[in-house]
Amino acid sequence: MSITRTSVMADGLPPSLLEMLGHEIEILEWDDRPTSSALERAVAFITYGHPRVDGPLMDRAPNLKIVSNHGVGVDHIDCAAAKSRGILVGNTPGCLDAATADMTMALMLAAARNVVAGDKFARSPAFVHYDPSFMIGYEVSGSTLGIVGLGRIGKQVARRARAFDMKILYHNRSRDEAAERELGVTYVSLDDLLAESDFVTLNCPLTAETTNLIGQRELGLMKPTGILVNVARGGVVDHDALLAALKSKRIAVAALDVTAPEPLPRNHPLLELDNIIIVPHLGSASNRTRHRMQQMTVENLKAGLAGQELPWRVV
Ligand code: 8YV
Repeated sequence: MSITRTSVMADGLPPSLLEMLGHEIEILEWDDRPTSSALERAVAFITYGHPRVDGPLMDRAPNLKIVSNHGVGVDHIDCAAAKSRGILVGNTPGCLDAATADMTMALMLAAARNVVAGDKFARSPAFVHYDPSFMIGYEVSGSTLGIVGLGRIGKQVARRARAFDMKILYHNRSRDEAAERELGVTYVSLDDLLAESDFVTLNCPLTAETTNLIGQRELGLMKPTGILVNVARGGVVDHDALLAALKSKRIAVAALDVTAPEPLPRNHPLLELDNIIIVPHLGSASNRTRHRMQQMTVENLKAGLAGQELPWRVV
């Protein structure tokens, strides 16, 4: 007797996630160009490495009912197009806040204290004599932090920054007075945040409003000693403007977990600069967080396939 398996199209899932899905799910591989036959059979998509899911792609998948996204950000999915077609979209909010805030702090500290340049130097033949005048960085403790986007992740950044005795400013779509009381953060305009902060962290989602939010004018408002940390999405920062600001030392350092495009072309001029740190989108990449993200991705998928409400539904 043959068992009917549910066909799900997915990009490059790791063995641990495949194991959680179990044998009743047939995975149809999703390469750069998904085949028509896979699209026609797919009842659901799992989006793992942020493949673009737009209306025209949905229209090529007549049986599609659910898109289960591994991750909280759904900017690569046209949720309005999904909604209008009655396709459910699920994501994995909450479980990655701590790991992503940890990475925000890691990048802030690494950028301020020359961790990456110091590592390269300490391994190099040039390091033959210790000189206390080497690589004097910027002090994180007691400095002013500006958090752009005081959502779940931004709040976790604020919690950590308090332990560093930082003065914390934030800018958000709307003021959050409960967070102000709980975390001792101060609401300011984006311009004031940029002008007054020693460190600016971007922790907002990528939306129409936040696309290129940080451009030439905004970088021009930052302190020349200012450090910009982007753990949101590459599209929040105008990369041409960032390149110019870093080259001219208009700002001191940038530390990026994300870029646009991702990855940057290997000959991109940002990759040549000394005053930038780039990591390959590792914000949520910790063992415990990734395990929980995988569980939530599978729980959303299986609930949707069973005709139940998705535990974490976007639309
Ligand atoms: C993941 C992310 O790396 O949650 C998000 O929005 O960008 C990251 O946590 C990504 O979703 C990988 O699947």
